[in-house]
Amino acid sequence: MNESWKSIGYADEPVPVGINLKEEIRRMCKEKNAIILAHYYTAGEIQDVADFVGDSLALAQQAAKTTADIIVMCGVHFMAETNKILCPDKKVLLPDLNAGCSLADTCKAEDLAQYKKEHPEYKVVAYVNTSAAVKALTDIVVTSSNARQVVESFPKDEKILFAPDKNLGGYLNAITGRSMELWNGGCHVHERFSINKIVELKAQYPNAKVLAHPECKAAVVALADYVGSTAAILKFAQKDNSDTYIVVTESGILHEMQKSMPEKRFIPVPPEIAAGAVCSCNECDYMRMNTMEKLYNCLKFEWPYVELDEEMREDALRPIERMLELSERLKL
Ligand code: 13P
Ligand code: SF4
Repeated sequence: MNESWKSIGYADEPVPVGINLKEEIRRMCKEKNAIILAHYYTAGEIQDVADFVGDSLALAQQAAKTTADIIVMCGVHFMAETNKILCPDKKVLLPDLNAGCSLADTCKAEDLAQYKKEHPEYKVVAYVNTSAAVKALTDIVVTSSNARQVVESFPKDEKILFAPDKNLGGYLNAITGRSMELWNGGCHVHERFSINKIVELKAQYPNAKVLAHPECKAAVVALADYVGSTAAILKFAQKDNSDTYIVVTESGILHEMQKSMPEKRFIPVPPEIAAGAVCSCNECDYMRMNTMEKLYNCLKFEWPYVELDEEMREDALRPIERMLELSERLKL
């Protein structure tokens, strides 16, 4: 990660007093031919100012087809890297370069390179939540929206390492009947949901359906009525005829859920926390580093931006393109 921007401090530059941040951000987007992509886990006001809001797959698909000169990725670092891998000639901005990902951090490129050396017969399927250096070492990338189809595209007896999310990998093994080797990684947000609280909420709202992300632990997934990516969870609730849902993923998704289905009730699940603490949401600290002020400053100064070594970018592009081609063929 490029640390040099911190000393310059553009991201923390005070914004002019009295300006309408949303209007100014939109004005700069028009002036600079910039597009704002935001993940469902960002704060509601970021989602509301963005040109496009989506899950990891949809964000990559948008980046691949945009004609904008500048992409502002309101998400985390690996998402901005994915955009840069797909769009080397565009400037890719990330409002705060410190917006990392605890899951991506569990898989270092040198460790994966060592694994490959020791297990040359294994194909490597990598979740998109990985660094560009890790993607460059993989055979194909997946997101939670297409992971099942990608895994099923391999012959049944193929030896596969799935990295880095052991929960998603375990879930995929269960639904596909495969026995992929699993990297020992996990997302600190999805792994900390309180099982007791889910059970309690189910008792309190007996008609509610439990919707869970596959990054959650198996014991949580076992309690779910539906398991899917953020976009899939949203779509499920839009088509389903229940009126109450217990939502077991980062609570930012509730913004779009509530906006598109005001007549329904969406209940977030808190993390397992010390007794006495009051918190009903489970937020990703990295995603929440995207603020309106930082977004304004990064558009104004066109900084900080993501840069990649060209050779690594080309190596990382192939497994992403394979994923996008398969997704397009399967209309995902
Ligand atoms: P999706 O966007 O594929 O649902 O993944 C969730 C996530 O954790 C992104 O960091
Ligand atoms: Fe990474 Fe988890 Fe945050 Fe997604 S929610 S960006 S997987 S830490």
